[in-house]
Amino acid sequence: MTITGTAPDLDAIRAQFPALTQDTLFLENAGGSQVTAGVADAMHAYLRDTYVQLGAPYALSRHCTRIVQQAHDDVRLFMNGDGAGEVVLGHSSSWLFRMLADCYADVIEPGDEIVVAEAGHEANVGPWLRLERQGAKIRWWRVDPETGASTLDGLREVLSERTKIVAFAHVSNLLGEIIDIGAVTQAAHAVGARVVADGVAYAPHRAIDVQAWEVDWYGYSAYKVYGPHVGALYGRHDAFAELEGPNHFFVPKGEVPYKFELGGVAHEACAGIVALRDYLQFLSGRDVYDRQTVTDAFDVMEAHERPLQERLVAWVLEHPRLRLIGPEHAGADRVATVSFVHETKSSQSVSIVANRQDIGIRFGHMYAHRLCAAMGLEPDDGVVRVSCVHYNRPAEIERLIEVLDPAV
Ligand SMILES: Cc1ncc(COP(=O)(O)O)c(C=O)c1O
Repeated sequence: MTITGTAPDLDAIRAQFPALTQDTLFLENAGGSQVTAGVADAMHAYLRDTYVQLGAPYALSRHCTRIVQQAHDDVRLFMNGDGAGEVVLGHSSSWLFRMLADCYADVIEPGDEIVVAEAGHEANVGPWLRLERQGAKIRWWRVDPETGASTLDGLREVLSERTKIVAFAHVSNLLGEIIDIGAVTQAAHAVGARVVADGVAYAPHRAIDVQAWEVDWYGYSAYKVYGPHVGALYGRHDAFAELEGPNHFFVPKGEVPYKFELGGVAHEACAGIVALRDYLQFLSGRDVYDRQTVTDAFDVMEAHERPLQERLVAWVLEHPRLRLIGPEHAGADRVATVSFVHETKSSQSVSIVANRQDIGIRFGHMYAHRLCAAMGLEPDDGVVRVSCVHYNRPAEIERLIEVLDPAV
């Protein structure tokens, strides 16, 4: 980890997020993060001063067109997609994965196989199952029912020369484990399949690098990465080329991303996305927005996060009545999303103890319904999930533990 600029301390970081001055402890960040003042202000200013339609030759409209274009460019750089592919923005990641699967319905043929990870969030599971209507055969990349792990061997068992798509989550939003995405992609490409990676639970914690991983499709949600409620989907140029996007017939097939943005994007959200570059520059201590800025910013985030996951994982592991759901260690191969269950008490009853003290944590299946079922957990009660990001304080974890200890 090499940080080239001067990294800000935690107080300076937290001062960027107006919501963090409240008493609530925000430990539900895997559900959604807070936004910086810069993001909120940019969206407000856009709505207040420049809320006109794109594509006309008058000054304000040209300004708005540039903002929307800039948002796409910024996200593409954020994912390291420059020169390799394009980025589609949309309402949410769920919406974008569903849109993508619907596009694949036109090219999937009877007998084609689609590998779907059982550990995935339903956003990148359900849409692919719908392709059974086109005659596709679903092959499940199963989890180990004890650990929840998805192994490469497990993947290789279900790949074949008929596999067209491998859909999986880069990080499970429940387990917190980082999958070796480069290895998954290599295995999928070896049989000629495309990978569709759900990066939603990865993106708030580490720098995305779609080119290093050689992925075909990669999605994440900006609202979990300190930005507005928008989903982003990167696709390689050659992957886009084989699909017809859903936008109107008179929009040319090759007009990417617009062909894939039916009804357009939320323009004010684009202003928020563009403002996020200031925060990444602030974290990295650099005065330009480039790849180095993104990777440095995430190095700073990871450094702040590590002690949080270490403390939480250690607390759960040492507790005689709690069972950690996910990797039983802290470290670089997991994010600070920590889930657990109690040997006798429901996840709901444990979670509520913290919620009553204004601590935002959550219980349930977190939309990884199939993963919970495979691990023998009753999905509606699921797990207790504590999810931190870099702006959380070690003292917040201590407070959570102090509140939960007597209850568990
Ligand atoms: C791993 C993962 N994938 C997909 C999603 C869905 O994202 P969105 O809310 O943008 O549809 C979530 C949301 O929690 C998630 O955690």
